[in-house]
Amino acid sequence: MNKVTVVEHPLLEDILSHLREKSTPPRRFAEQMDAAGVVLGLEALRSAKTQTVQVSTPLKTAACRKLAQPVCLTAILRAGLGMMPGLARVLPEARMGHIGLYRNEETLNPVRYYVRLPSGLDKTLVLLLDPMLATGGSAAEAVRILKTDGAKEIAFVCLLATRTGLRRVHREHPDVHIYAGAIDPVLNQNGYIVPGLGDAGDRTFGTI
Ligand code: PRP
Ligand code: URA
Repeated sequence: MNKVTVVEHPLLEDILSHLREKSTPPRRFAEQMDAAGVVLGLEALRSAKTQTVQVSTPLKTAACRKLAQPVCLTAILRAGLGMMPGLARVLPEARMGHIGLYRNEETLNPVRYYVRLPSGLDKTLVLLLDPMLATGGSAAEAVRILKTDGAKEIAFVCLLATRTGLRRVHREHPDVHIYAGAIDPVLNQNGYIVPGLGDAGDRTFGTI
């Protein structure tokens, strides 16, 4: 599929085995989700533009490369929050945005309850974080919210995707590159990814 990268890394496979396992307790689940966020986010940054700067070392000047654009990490609440802390540590200058959406259990349509985004999104590379791309409704809505606020360069970073979700996001936002840890085969009638890992938000925050 165009503009879809399935990230292949032995560590990510190991992480995914813990996250899929139903007996993994919430604290361990949250740690592993955080680690997945780092592996996936770094892959999404692989194509980020850099620029040359002169840096003074204690001995001499050195030509170095710096990220040419600020980065904004934006989490779709709640589950996307779980992918943020590690990435924020490796990107200490990144700004952070939050988009609160939950799925209506009957219609599976996203319902917006909170949006807080930094200014200057038009010049910023936005990594939109949510581990689960199921029907694609939440991701498509979050991208719409970011674009309305001026964002022009958005990468969507998720752990598990379905083909239905990938198609939905690309039908509405063909410009958005999607990075996923795996594509699972089935979306069941309740909108859950199968085999999946269950409800990512509930498992991260222990609200089952
Ligand atoms: C989950 C998940 C995504 C959404 C994916 O959130 O984190 O945001 O469902 O489903 P979709 O692709 O069909 O829109 P949920 O609504 O369960 O909220 P939560 O993270 O607060 O638990
Ligand atoms: N949201 C989740 O948390 N899990 C799924 O399988 C689908 C949507």
